[in-house]
Amino acid sequence: MCGIVGYVGPKDCSEVLVDALRKLEYRGYDSAGIAVFEDGKIKVAKEKGRLDDLQAKMNAEGVPAGNAGIGHTRWATHGIPSAVNSHPHKGGEKVTLVHNGIIENYKELKEYLISQGRVFVSETDTEVVAQLLDFNYEGDPIKAIAKTLSQVEGSFALGILFADRVGELFAVRRESPLIVGVSEGESFIASDVPAIIKYTNQYYLLEHDEIAHLDFSGVSFCDLEGNAIVKELKVADWNQEAAEKGGYEHFMLKEIHEQPTAVKTTITPRISDGLPCLEECSITVDSLRDINQIYIVACGTAMHAGMVGKYVIEKMAKVPVIVDIASEFRYRDPLIKEGDLVIIISQSGETADSLAAMRLAKSMGAKTLAIVNAKGSSIAREADMLIYTHAGPEIAVASTKAYMVQIAVMYLLGFKMALSKGQITEDECRRLTGVLASVPVYLEKTIADVDDVCNDIATQLLEAENLLYIGRGLDYALSMEGSLKLKEISYIHSEAYAAGELKHGTISLITDGMPVIAVATQNSLLDKTVSNIKEVKARGAMVIVVCDEEAQIGADVADYIIRVPKIEESLMPMLAAVPLQLLAYYTSYKRGNDVDKPRNLAKSVTVE
Ligand code: M6R
Repeated sequence: MCGIVGYVGPKDCSEVLVDALRKLEYRGYDSAGIAVFEDGKIKVAKEKGRLDDLQAKMNAEGVPAGNAGIGHTRWATHGIPSAVNSHPHKGGEKVTLVHNGIIENYKELKEYLISQGRVFVSETDTEVVAQLLDFNYEGDPIKAIAKTLSQVEGSFALGILFADRVGELFAVRRESPLIVGVSEGESFIASDVPAIIKYTNQYYLLEHDEIAHLDFSGVSFCDLEGNAIVKELKVADWNQEAAEKGGYEHFMLKEIHEQPTAVKTTITPRISDGLPCLEECSITVDSLRDINQIYIVACGTAMHAGMVGKYVIEKMAKVPVIVDIASEFRYRDPLIKEGDLVIIISQSGETADSLAAMRLAKSMGAKTLAIVNAKGSSIAREADMLIYTHAGPEIAVASTKAYMVQIAVMYLLGFKMALSKGQITEDECRRLTGVLASVPVYLEKTIADVDDVCNDIATQLLEAENLLYIGRGLDYALSMEGSLKLKEISYIHSEAYAAGELKHGTISLITDGMPVIAVATQNSLLDKTVSNIKEVKARGAMVIVVCDEEAQIGADVADYIIRVPKIEESLMPMLAAVPLQLLAYYTSYKRGNDVDKPRNLAKSVTVE
């Protein structure tokens, strides 16, 4: 995820900006840049790659020397990682800015600006805001910012320099976070506290559509009409490490809370005119139409995302999908035919078995599509087609936000394939895509609604030695992920079972008080699942049901019920995943485990 910093004060601005950007490296990035007022002019330096690459370039070409400026680390969404696409962007002679977030209507705005004679140099949505602000600027920064904000749609945080306001910095945000730090004689902007904690622990939280103005006399705030705003100064009592966790006790909890943003950042650039748009990844309607067999190959959580993909693609596009564990696939002589599509899902893009499976599939003539989070990783580089997920770096070993964006991409692909195959109409595809686009809002609500209840229920799991997750259809796919999450960080033995399969053997394991977590979000299967729940309840199980807010489930069936908002049935796994993640998190935490670094596990499994 992109990072923004800005500085006005007596120190060497370039040094402060690069130093502050280093503290945001944990967010992940593929290019970096700064812009500083030097001798009354804005000097920009930017480069693809790491901050060291930027520093080397500046050392060779001249480090901008001055006391006010902005900086940025970019995690590419619109346009490849390159020096031209990296920030800061100039909008013309008057405006230079950095941006975090996504401008949803950038295509329309770009067309309009081109019709007004504007020429663009990058592929980014950011340059569109820079050009628009430059176009609107007639000497009054607040008026120009307000007018620009009335024209752009999306989420963003901006750090802005106006060429004729030397030594001044403006900032504004909508949805994407931005803070304004203050210290004796100097001020800062940053997308996160860790960037500035070395310099100050005092900061203001910029709210939606508030404008901050920083200059050598201090900091002031106003609304879009220019009315002054008095804000409360906050004091962070974090050290550097705690600051990187954003105030959360563990990275896993932070990453669970980042899911709404991660999904939004992943899907927004892939929706155009209300329909899934994967052309940038070379996936066109025509290329999907001819596919008759799909394999999804991955490990662990990524494989569970593939299970969700199987249900969605088979149900909607009517294309058969085989989901394989990568370590099995590569040694079981899979019957791949030329033209089959093999989808590899991986957060790290470096998992040895997944990489080997992809190479095998390619060697057998399959087309390979990688769904990868880590930019430039081996799987991303070697695949024929590539969809990057934009979860940002995932630090906790237990995967949460990477899974969430992987399934979001599975839906986009499933909807697109169903449309290509003529299985759904364009209207239906548009409707489904609209529901997917609304998921981030429901995710926010789900996290807020279920956090406390999961914390409480986790107390009931602490002494368990064995545990079952059950579900049908998509709920079974989700149960597999819930079970893995719990076992890998709580060390409680757990299995996921297709609910209807219990009575063929596994039900004999049920003893008095054994926890059974039943995922029951699929309304079309609810009666069947409830029957299975009653079977385990009758044998003494302590039943925890995860269902939607309207599901008719009585107290006689469940000991605890965790309800999530009700949306389109096929998309329910995205919401129901949250309580499963939180149950695992709180259980591990309360058992005193190292939540982020569970024993015997590594984040990236680069060996067989
Ligand atoms: O980096 P990958 O997505 O390829 O990793 C695959 C698995 O190792 C990973 O999902 C693992 O199962 C997680 N620790 C589960 O939380």
